[in-house]
Amino acid sequence: MSKYRIPFNKPALVGNEIEYISQAVHGGHASGDGPFTKRCQSLLEEALGVPKTLLTTSCTHALEMAALLLDIQPGDEVIVPPFTFVTSVNAFVLRGARPVFIDVRPDTLNMDEQLLEKLITPRTKAIIPVHYAGVGCEMDTICEIADRHKIPIVEDNAHGLFAKYKTRWLGTFGALATLSFHETKNFTCGEGGALLINDPQYIDRAEIVREKGTNRSRFFRGQVDKYTWVDIGSSYLPSDILAAYLFAQLEAREQVLAQRKRAFEHYVEQLQEWAQMNDVRLPTVPPHCEQSYHMFYMLLPSLEKRQNLIAHLKSRSILSVFHYVPLHLSPMGRKWGYQEGDCPVTEEISDRLVRLPFYNELSPEQQQTVCAAIFESW
Ligand SMILES: Cc1ncc(COP(=O)(O)O)c(C=O)c1O
Repeated sequence: MSKYRIPFNKPALVGNEIEYISQAVHGGHASGDGPFTKRCQSLLEEALGVPKTLLTTSCTHALEMAALLLDIQPGDEVIVPPFTFVTSVNAFVLRGARPVFIDVRPDTLNMDEQLLEKLITPRTKAIIPVHYAGVGCEMDTICEIADRHKIPIVEDNAHGLFAKYKTRWLGTFGALATLSFHETKNFTCGEGGALLINDPQYIDRAEIVREKGTNRSRFFRGQVDKYTWVDIGSSYLPSDILAAYLFAQLEAREQVLAQRKRAFEHYVEQLQEWAQMNDVRLPTVPPHCEQSYHMFYMLLPSLEKRQNLIAHLKSRSILSVFHYVPLHLSPMGRKWGYQEGDCPVTEEISDRLVRLPFYNELSPEQQQTVCAAIFESW
């Protein structure tokens, strides 16, 4: 039970989770790559039209796999926004890469594609668009620049499963893309993720990297008569018990997305007029993007207003949160020489952003309580 009357997040059970978990436990294959893992992977491959999907233990681990597959070496550069979760960057830094931070657009808070080309150098080995709040980055421009320079794209799509950019699913643009099934995400199994492989040249090695550097997957398919150590790798595959939980969530995707859409639209209805009158900005979703309804954020006029609002909501037992602290100004970011003013949009918006409670089962009445508390705090 949350200590808040209205928590920030509440992971939902949507239907068959317990039944499927029981089947996984009793079915005799609880370790990785069992029947439910295969069902999740097939569902994602068919729904998104992706050649290969591998479930992983987290989005972080899928990003680490991407860094291994792209053979990131010390001194290589990756272009990534500083307005993101730490692992979009850390996965590559773990291999020795230097992060080249690209500022975000003030509207969608996604990578500013107009800044991309001048950050490319002969050392650039990957471009990492993060589809913030499940709203697509400007993939036409990003893909055109990446193709021209022959630089692979890794989409961090932790927020945007089943969202689209110009009729195409997020996660299908990059050579590789990652998903998160952490409990804060639209579809969850507690902790989990996936690597989507759009460029088939990475498939064989991805299976090896995920299986501790062995060719175990090929052995199970009967393609080799014994399995052995063939490459570097780690243990990135989740238990089939987690996959069983996830499969129930993915099967209910239409219901989940409809619930979240309703909650998002209800916040907009309640807050739109007040926001206009008070210099508050609600999320921007360009007409060519279909979002995933992952979160509801507001940009307030100042840091002080943001802190006051969070404190006021807390006093009413409502939990709202902020993020992300700009990565270029973190102790790690400063080690590479980044400083204030390097990514001005990120610095400005991250001080003013607040995320309101948002989850599948959030009721219109709860949302009205949140909105009433917001108005009262002003
Ligand atoms: C943009 C982004 N990328 C990556 C992650 C990491 O996801 P996971 O917790 O599944 O490793 C998160 C987590 O919140 C995220 O927001």
